[in-house]
Amino acid sequence: MVCSTSAGDRCEVTATTASLTARSSARQSTGPGPVPTLEQYRAGGRRSSVQGPRPGPVHGPMAAGAALPSVGDMPVAIVTGASRGLGRALAGGLARAGWRLVIDARSAGPLRAAAEELLRYAEPDGTTTTGQSVVLALPGDVTDPAHRAELVAAADRLGGPDLLVNNAGILGPSPQPPLIDYPLQTLRDVYEANVFAPLALTQLLLPRLREVGGAVVNVTSDAAVEPYPGWGGYGSAKAALEQASRVLAAEEPALRVWWVDPGDLRTQMHQEAFPGEDISDRPAPETVVPAFLSLLTERPESGRIRLPDLAGEPVTQAGQGVAA
Ligand SMILES: NC(=O)c1ccc[n+]([C@@H]2O[C@H](COP(=O)([O-])OP(=O)(O)OC[C@H]3O[C@@H](n4cnc5c(N)ncnc54)[C@H](OP(=O)(O)O)[C@@H]3O)[C@@H](O)[C@H]2O)c1
Repeated sequence: MVCSTSAGDRCEVTATTASLTARSSARQSTGPGPVPTLEQYRAGGRRSSVQGPRPGPVHGPMAAGAALPSVGDMPVAIVTGASRGLGRALAGGLARAGWRLVIDARSAGPLRAAAEELLRYAEPDGTTTTGQSVVLALPGDVTDPAHRAELVAAADRLGGPDLLVNNAGILGPSPQPPLIDYPLQTLRDVYEANVFAPLALTQLLLPRLREVGGAVVNVTSDAAVEPYPGWGGYGSAKAALEQASRVLAAEEPALRVWWVDPGDLRTQMHQEAFPGEDISDRPAPETVVPAFLSLLTERPESGRIRLPDLAGEPVTQAGQGVAA
């Protein structure tokens, strides 16, 4: 394992890197084609030794019908905002399933801790299905174009992205003000993080994702579709993200684009949304990971996905309809 701060605050957590070159050259030498499901990875792709590129089409993460990949062909995901909360849980699920990951967050310390935890899934006595994982953790702000370029470059180093999870987001002020009082500069900041940054990252990655029949997951909220008083800033930003996702799905039929509502989750953002309230009854973010992974496995048509609908409704107190 290498986890060094010698290059700024970057933390590169690497279980095995020998197969990266093989995977990269496989991508460069072949075109798009059918790809194995995660179910197939789990069923038969759990090889523990490095193998060369397999013949046949380059795979993306999720289409059925292709030969099993070598470990050098394990798929690559960028998960933004993975130092805590939902992003950390989703990254954990992907790492356990053998994905190579590029993750970020603004605060380097928690991001490093998350990356080190992810690596544990790749150790021989861990729970990963492959015995191999790579995590590149890049501290930075998704609203910063230079940081977004670094994320893309890191995914390229791993062989190229198959999946983008636009999870990073902010609530805005806590408590949230009604629209009449909402400071417009603060609203702009909310839109920068929740709308423009995910769209900009998607723009950078689209050519790569098209090549492999990849997927974009934009994390949204029921506040995007319900007019909850006080949720006009965050909610309208998520609504914009949803409509951008809808149009993207229409424009990019070769991809899967899912705008994913995870439901109420017990996270820092959710606590900010309900300051001073006891949110201990909300489900932990880990509870939606199986539904998220099944989404990648099933690869339904592009569209709006409510993870609790895939997993069975998590138990919440009556009357709590609003997620963060
Ligand atoms: N929790 C819920 O009930 C709920 C419900 C519906 C939807 N969601 C959505 O789920 C996603 C995750 O929310 P969460 O509840 O897990 O929030 P959280 O606990 O606040 O975690 C947010 C993560 O994103 C990172 N982040 C925030 N702004 C960033 C930026 N500008 N650049 C890079 N990283 C950034 C944070 O780290 P740093 O602060 O260090 O940057 C952290 O890792 C969000 O899109 C949220 O809108 C949550």
